[in-house]
Amino acid sequence: MKLIIINGPNLNLLGKREPEIYGSKSFLELFKELQSKFSGIEIDYFQSNIEGELIDKLHEVGFDYDGIILNAAAYTHTSVGIGDAVKGIETPVVEVHISNVHAREAFRHTSYIAPNAKGVIFGFGVKGYELAIQSFL
Ligand code: DQA
Repeated sequence: MKLIIINGPNLNLLGKREPEIYGSKSFLELFKELQSKFSGIEIDYFQSNIEGELIDKLHEVGFDYDGIILNAAAYTHTSVGIGDAVKGIETPVVEVHISNVHAREAFRHTSYIAPNAKGVIFGFGVKGYELAIQSFL
């Protein structure tokens, strides 16, 4: 089983950015924990602050990986292009958000990804990434 976690803009600042919302753990720390917890499967990781790079990565992995865990961050609420990419690939995508986006500003209630995602996990903090991995097992 081969999975990839794809994180969008500003998630490279996890641990430093608004810790009261996103927690104080860096993604690298979390990723190492996930890799040791799920040592029987391959988990790759990609992060970009650039919309087109996220689309390119979805195209690259979207026909031979078994699952994609996508937190497109702010692009979730704005990007028709990322939504179309998720629709155009074969690999199932689980959308993840660390925070409860539905308890926040109205613009965060829209997702261009959710209509074509296998499922959506939000509001459980960074634990959402682990839940998304488990959903593929
Ligand atoms: C986020 C929620 C988005 O609304 C926000 O723009 C992010 C992070 C989350 O993981 O809670 O950057 O995707």
